[in-house]
Parts: sequence; structure tokens; C-alpha cells
Amino acid sequence: MTTATANTPEAVPGLDHIMQTGLAFWASKVLLSAVETEVFTELAKGPEDLPTLTGRLGLHPRGARDFLDSLVALGFLVREDGNYSNTPSTGLYLDKHKPSYVGGLLEMANHRLYRFWGGLTTALRTGLAQSEAAQGNDTFATLYADPARLKEFLRAMTGVSRGANTSIAARFPWAKYKTAADVGTAQGDLIVQVALANPHLSCIGFDLAEVAAVFEDYVESNGLSARVKFHGGSFFTDPLPKADVIMMGHILHDWNLDEKRMLVRKAYDAVPEGGAFVVYDSIIDDDRSKNAFGLMMSLNMLIETPGGFDYTGADCIGWMKEAGFRETRVEHLVGPDSMVVGIK
Ligand SMILES: C[S@@+](CC[C@H](N)C(=O)[O-])C[C@H]1O[C@@H](n2cnc3c(N)ncnc32)[C@H](O)[C@@H]1O
Repeated sequence: MTTATANTPEAVPGLDHIMQTGLAFWASKVLLSAVETEVFTELAKGPEDLPTLTGRLGLHPRGARDFLDSLVALGFLVREDGNYSNTPSTGLYLDKHKPSYVGGLLEMANHRLYRFWGGLTTALRTGLAQSEAAQGNDTFATLYADPARLKEFLRAMTGVSRGANTSIAARFPWAKYKTAADVGTAQGDLIVQVALANPHLSCIGFDLAEVAAVFEDYVESNGLSARVKFHGGSFFTDPLPKADVIMMGHILHDWNLDEKRMLVRKAYDAVPEGGAFVVYDSIIDDDRSKNAFGLMMSLNMLIETPGGFDYTGADCIGWMKEAGFRETRVEHLVGPDSMVVGIK
């Protein structure tokens, strides 16, 4: 066995990871443009050859072949005998006509975040948001001023949250409780999944009044209108609806420290003795060295909001204890998401 010295090739540190990450936006934008041009929705109808697909998608022939073959090489399409088709994953998750579609998040990433992240260095130097909030506008008011953007954002939230939502619906000890409210519910996927898995529960989705129609359509399409109601209001100016369990998914990370603490206190006031508060986000590991997605989500909050940031389980437990919750725990859900539970 030989020992590598500073001059032998084995001793040279790897470059691949640096280059792959540095140019990762190429792959990202290929996938986002494929969602935008509806490649996967088109191919869900059946395999197509290059000229047919180029024509149907409205692409210029110069880049079409490289674009589609890049999708093959990246593992998002397969090509057999010159015909392109979806993989099992892209056929399931990126065909707009399937209920399992999660492209809403990628549509939003393409229309908004891709551009805003171009300002990351500026955000790091100034501490200022680079999104619609850059002009001092309220992030949600600006998003919601345009009904198409409102719907895109709310559907995107369903896409990003579905895995955690089904996990909370299945794993939380719901049998102990009768009522649940999801605060900042968006389209309502969390409360819908909880209600579907727990027929004994009466449920509320709480959000800004503009969200009502999108929420109610979604609840109705799941056959839950009798048991899941919308409650319009602002969690800054209104009390939260009373319930045995209050949930907040991807809410605390939007706001600054004082606002976070205020929301935790409002949740404490809204639940009865023995009631529960369930917070979930891409909770950062306490050592802040492993959950890269959670850490970059926090940078996303820097880009998107005036004061938002993501946090560790220990941070959240601290705010819960300060509000008065007597028992707390952190439980991993799926992927980068964990929930923090406080019992009053
Ligand atoms: C990042 S989304 C999270 C949506 C959903 N809980 C999820 O995890 O998919 C934040 C939600 O908070 C809502 N929201 C923002 N400001 C609010 C306010 N002042 N009062 C009530 N809801 C608000 C937004 O409308 C949006 O639905």
C-alpha cells in the first residue's frame, strides 16, 4: 500500500462537487423550463418523436433536441427508438392533469424565485429582501393582488407541503382531540389530509380573506365541505380560532423573531389545557450543519421577506416554553421537514 503525498494525484482534493454545485442552475432551469413548456403534461398523452414534440411544445428547432436530450440525461425523460416519454416520477408528479401534480411549486420557482435568487449577494450585503417585498410592499398583499398569482402560490404550497401533511395526518395522536385549526392554511391541504384521515374531527382553515374561494373549492373537491370550514382573518390583528390542536405549517419562518414569539403566544391562548400546538417547517438541526435544505430555506426567507428566517428545534422549543407550553418534542416528518409539538 502506498501513502499519498502532497504531490501525488490521490492527494488532490476533489473538484467535482464544486463544479456541479456552481453550475447546478443549468439543470435547475432545464427542469423549470420543461414544466413551463408542459413537456411532461404533453408526454402524459403518449410517447412522441422529436419533430412532433418540438411542434406541440412550440419550441425552436435549434435548442429543442439538446433540451429534450438533457432531460433524458438528467433522468426526467426516457427516449426509446427516437420516441420520448415520461419516467414514472415525472408522469406522476409533473402531468398537470393529475391530482398528484406538484409542479405548482416549480412554476412559482420559475416565475419568481429563480429571478429573485439572482440577488442573493445583494441580500447578503444589505440584509434586504429581493422579492416583491424589496420595495417595502407586504409580501402576501403583493402576491395576492393578482388572482392568478394568488392561485399559483396557494397551489404551490400544496405541492411543497403534501408529504409533511400526510405524515402529520397519519402520525399525530388525533384520537385524543375533537377539533383542529390550521393557521395560514393556504389551499388547505394540511387540514384536508388531517380531516380525510380522521373522520371524527371538526376542522378549520384560517387565512387571509382573499384565500377563501381557493380553499373552499379545494375542500369541496375532497368532499369535506360539511366538516372543514374557512375562517377569514389576520393572525396579526385577530385572535386565532379556538381548537384542541392549532397547527402552523411554513408560517413561523416567514416572520421576524418578535412576530414568531407573538404567533406562538396566540397559539397558546387558542388551545385549551391539554391542547396541542403543532409547528412544522424545514426545521434546522440544532448543530446547524446537516439540514442544507432548511438552511437554504432560511436564505430563501431572506430573499422573500423583510425579517423571516428558519430555525432549529431548540429555538422553537425555547419560544414554546416561554409562552407556557409544558411539554415539547421535535419529530422528523419527511425529507427536510420536522414538526415541533407543544402541549399546554
Ligand atoms: C408560506 S404559506 C404556508 C401555507 C401552508 N400552511 C403550507 O405549509 O403549505 C403562508 C400562509 O400564511 C398566510 N398568511 C400570511 N399572512 C397572514 C396573516 N396576517 N394572517 C393569516 N394568514 C396569513 C398566507 O396567506 C399563506 O397561506
